[in-house]
Amino acid sequence: MKFSAVKGMHDVVPAEASMWEWIEREARALFATYGFEEIRTPVLEKTALFVRGVGATSAIVEKEMYTFVDQGGEELTLRPEGTAPVVRAYVEQGLYQDDQASKLFYIGPMFRHERPQKGRFRQFSQIGVELLGAAHPLADAEVIAMAVRLVARLGIDDTRLEVNSLGCENCRPNYQAALGALIAQVASQLCDDCHRRIEKNPQRIFDCKNTTCQQALADAPIMQDYWCEPCHEHFSQVCAGLEAMDVPYYCNHRIVRGLDYYQRTAFEIVTNHLGAQSALCGGGRYDGLVKELGGPDSPGVGFALGLERLVMLLEEAQRRPVSRIPRVYVAALGQAAREQMLPVMQQLRQQGVRVEWDYEDRSLKSQMRRADRCGAQWVVIAGDQEIAAGTVAVRNMTDKSQHDIALGQLVTKVSELISLAKETA
Ligand code: HAM
Repeated sequence: MKFSAVKGMHDVVPAEASMWEWIEREARALFATYGFEEIRTPVLEKTALFVRGVGATSAIVEKEMYTFVDQGGEELTLRPEGTAPVVRAYVEQGLYQDDQASKLFYIGPMFRHERPQKGRFRQFSQIGVELLGAAHPLADAEVIAMAVRLVARLGIDDTRLEVNSLGCENCRPNYQAALGALIAQVASQLCDDCHRRIEKNPQRIFDCKNTTCQQALADAPIMQDYWCEPCHEHFSQVCAGLEAMDVPYYCNHRIVRGLDYYQRTAFEIVTNHLGAQSALCGGGRYDGLVKELGGPDSPGVGFALGLERLVMLLEEAQRRPVSRIPRVYVAALGQAAREQMLPVMQQLRQQGVRVEWDYEDRSLKSQMRRADRCGAQWVVIAGDQEIAAGTVAVRNMTDKSQHDIALGQLVTKVSELISLAKETA
């Protein structure tokens, strides 16, 4: 019997894993410059955390969660997103007691039972950031700038940052009333999905891709016209902060976001290269969430980037990470040579050199082919006869020059060659 991966879930094979590792490394390096530190939370949480945190009317909670009852009778869910778990940990671990804002990031798998398609999976990974305890609009601007800079640092261009404000509990009800009035007028033109959306959260109708619905909603009121003065001021300062940091943005007042916890700032980084899935990154401010989850009245703002979507864009642009680890291939020919080379390879590896060799008795020609394929910069050629004479040959794969080196000098000489190559690179 042959098994395949679960639908919507996939393996990351070594050729792709190097790309993942590179993206993660770049993210860690960038976040460190802003003072963000890693937090790791479990992949399983109590189901109620997401019902309360993400919102009972969100599509995620309504129909996309992997939920089950464990052997102890507890209702658990594989996390569909990272914000609610991080806020849970922030409250549970008392991180809010620090007088500084908590700057946290996470990298890991999330699970949503969605219909799989290009760029949409049931298990996917997010790189997420949460800044907790900072209410200032410049915190939003800085978090947004960080997301934009990560995308740029990876060399992904042709993306667009879209920002909006969803208002707050003071001004949003007025907007929703106005929207409700318009919806009542055009209800007969809207699709069944929209009718379902209206019952749960009327603003979600803007997510509908149906052109008839979009036309019917063309004159719908926009949140911007209903912002209260503090929301207005907050949004202006977020925009001013982005401008001060030279981060280009578009105001898209139709951004709604699929999770219920957002207040005020909402943003997305979108691209046209991912088919129907245009969002590479999504985030915003969620000031009521910490309190909702049993903590103090702490504000929060953050985002998450989809790792698979980043990888897809990088592959489409044929961008590959460059390994900076020096590589040496040892072509040992014969049993005596193999035995002599074993400790030498250990020493080279201790110095951070990647050493490859062959476990079989293959010919020099086929070993040289393999050395080429694995990108070796130098090949150590050690035959039984050379070993008996106390020497090996070292071949430079770039300029094809070759030198005999005394066995006892090999590690020192190879290390020198590597340092020299690094200096001239
Ligand atoms: P989200 O918009 O649901 O937000 O997801 C963020 C990103 O995760 C998306 O822009 C996309 O790149 C990726 N993503 C989401 N679903 C899938 C999927 N099924 N397959 C592949 N990639 C996917 C959140 O999750 C919020 N927790 C973000 C946040 C953090 N807001 C504040 N802090």
